[in-house]
Amino acid sequence: MKKLLVTGAAGFIGANFVKYWHQKNTSDEILVLDALTYAGNKANLSSLEGQDRFTFVKGDICDQQLVESLLKKHDIDTVVHFAAESHVDRSITGPDAFIDTNIVGTHTLLKAAKKYWLEESEKEQHLFHHVSTDEVYGTLSADDPAFSETTPYAPNSPYAASKASSDHLVRAYHHTYGLKVTTSNCSNNYGPLQFPEKLIPLCMLNILNGDALPIYGDGKQIRDWLYVDDHSRGIELVINSGHHGETYNIGGNNEWTNIDVVTLLCELLDQRFAKDEALVSRFPNSPCAKGEPAKSLITYVTDRPGHDTRYAIDARKIMDGLGYKPVEDFDSGLNATVDWYLQNEDWWRAILDGSYRQ
Ligand SMILES: NC(=O)c1ccc[n+]([C@@H]2O[C@H](COP(=O)([O-])OP(=O)(O)OC[C@H]3O[C@@H](n4cnc5c(N)ncnc54)[C@H](O)[C@@H]3O)[C@@H](O)[C@H]2O)c1
Repeated sequence: MKKLLVTGAAGFIGANFVKYWHQKNTSDEILVLDALTYAGNKANLSSLEGQDRFTFVKGDICDQQLVESLLKKHDIDTVVHFAAESHVDRSITGPDAFIDTNIVGTHTLLKAAKKYWLEESEKEQHLFHHVSTDEVYGTLSADDPAFSETTPYAPNSPYAASKASSDHLVRAYHHTYGLKVTTSNCSNNYGPLQFPEKLIPLCMLNILNGDALPIYGDGKQIRDWLYVDDHSRGIELVINSGHHGETYNIGGNNEWTNIDVVTLLCELLDQRFAKDEALVSRFPNSPCAKGEPAKSLITYVTDRPGHDTRYAIDARKIMDGLGYKPVEDFDSGLNATVDWYLQNEDWWRAILDGSYRQ
């Protein structure tokens, strides 16, 4: 039985992970620590509220006293660290919060974990799992081999630089103090509960509301897309069987240009409206309700400064070493995502009108 502290689990990936873990590991206890920033939404965890083995604490990972007291009070043996400022565009206009949460916050957690596990409780069985991104590796050209765990770090945005820094701190706490750590670097996630500032939910809701679909530059930037539950499966494998001090790349083996992702999404929405009359009355402002293709909303906008051209993940280490295999392909994952957003209009309306903020 494990006692987990999961940071940032009112956000997209953390919330999906906690639900996955709670259902699968029925004797483990889960404590969530989340500051409920604009990206955190307690509604993401509403199905777990009041359930056994689940506790939510609103608080900041930079609050060392709070983190230390939680580790002790709940006798935590496993930290799964998702909390972060995660949106590249925001890191360009306001990098400070990224330095505070992603670097200082991660260091605060590491210090508290070292103090509790190595000095106070001398807990032999402990693990600090750090969730990171493929963006730490920089950018690839079309013919470059995909990022592996030995690709040199070359972060290009303040977001990527802050995550790279946190990865180095996690590594250093293993090598210097012997803290048991693992890190996973994953590609772009998609799925239910993703905040609608990220590409797929942003475009999905804009199609429903009849708003423009903004495409940066020529839209030819390539990303590898990973369904969020496949990410949770990968993290679970690393937590249970990963080698301490090592990093694992988790990817979907699923490279797409941004414009092709948006075009595919447009086609899926066109098909949904053609099959389901009710959508026409629910979303009268959508071009699909007026007999026009969703892709008529595509609008090219000035490219993001320093926009990386291509990310691709070589996931052979976790596949060969730990038996990882993504379950969803893009067709099944994207259809499941579209269905989820259509079925959970109250969830995203509350975000669009701001009423989700607690
Ligand atoms: N979304 C992706 O595609 C992707 C890809 C690779 C890696 N990652 C990494 O996965 C993790 C989760 O990403 P996400 O997309 O779910 O992010 P998200 O922005 O949806 O959620 C982040 C959560 O962290 C919380 N948080 C922020 N600052 C905090 C603080 N100081 N103290 C406590 N909580 C705080 C927020 O309230 C929110 O609930 C991040 O570390 C991110 O870097 C994400």
